Amino acid sequence: MIHDASSPLKTALIGANGMLAQMVRLEAPRQWDIVPLDLPDFDLTDREQVLETLTELQPDVIINCAAYTNVDGCESEQDIAFAVNGEGPKHLAEAALACDATLVHISTDYVFSGDKDEPYTEEDAPSPKSVYGQSKLAGEKAIVESGLDRFFIVRTSWLYGPGGKNFVETVLRLTAEREELRIVADQTGSPTMTRDLAQALFNLLATERYGIYHFSDEGACSWYDFACAIVELAKVSGMPVNARKIHPIRTEEFPLPAPRPRYSVFSKEKYRTVTRQEIPRWQDSLKDYFKIRSQVDES
Ligand SMILES: NC(=O)c1ccc[n+]([C@@H]2O[C@H](COP(=O)([O-])OP(=O)(O)OC[C@H]3O[C@@H](n4cnc5c(N)ncnc54)[C@H](OP(=O)(O)O)[C@@H]3O)[C@@H](O)[C@H]2O)c1
Repeated sequence: MIHDASSPLKTALIGANGMLAQMVRLEAPRQWDIVPLDLPDFDLTDREQVLETLTELQPDVIINCAAYTNVDGCESEQDIAFAVNGEGPKHLAEAALACDATLVHISTDYVFSGDKDEPYTEEDAPSPKSVYGQSKLAGEKAIVESGLDRFFIVRTSWLYGPGGKNFVETVLRLTAEREELRIVADQTGSPTMTRDLAQALFNLLATERYGIYHFSDEGACSWYDFACAIVELAKVSGMPVNARKIHPIRTEEFPLPAPRPRYSVFSKEKYRTVTRQEIPRWQDSLKDYFKIRSQVDES
């Protein structure tokens, strides 16, 4: 079986210096040959470079962790957003076809409007409200329509992990600097640790059951709940906490250029059924994160 996690596979890791990719490198089966590719040497938007590099490399698997992830920046830089998030995956699908490789691509809860009140399944129709979401949906469509059969598109949400800008690190910084925090309490989603998503990608690869999947950590909360949990763990861990009060606020009180989904919890039934793997609760993974947050930098 070509994607048996025990057989050595040559894997092109695109966006290799990013937050998720760093964890993919750590979680990859030891005997896999991971070839890191990222800016400035490798530009996903350069079709010729992508095809040339990958056809020379002849990978068995291409894992795309690259994206233009500045959600608010996408609103003012639509061309870059669509070039990286929309066209980039198209180039990779073309390369995967040329190399007979499997493509693993990461997408986002922002492809949904967030207007539902119950978990989004893979059958729900995407309806992104932000340019970021629209550009990520364009990337998904490019892969689906490429003619490639062997792909996984894995949508995830509220990602955090070692070695990246993320909400946990922002709250830790703010809680050390400020006496009061104001955090949005009317958006609901599921925090996801990069370790759990990276493991999910390898679990899916082992199944060869290609298609679109939803994956996040188990459970749901608001950004406010998430921030409270982070501050509690910071206190327990003896980290500097100056914030005495965390105020729950409404989305309108913290206006940002890009609209966010109000509700973006995923149904993970498809993932569970196919992989037969348990999904960690977000609270447990957050505790683990406090133990491993410096791990990637030190490795
Ligand atoms: N972060 C979240 O909360 C979240 C939530 C849901 C889904 N996702 C998805 O999860 C995936 C991983 O996200 P992440 O947070 O790990 O991203 P990240 O830390 O921003 O890493 C993205 C990487 O891609 C690189 N990159 C950007 N443009 C490129 C290009 N043209 N060619 C090659 N590489 C390029 C970046 O390089 P530079 O740093 O030099 O630009 C960076 O190393 C993305 O697909 C994202 O859309 C993220």
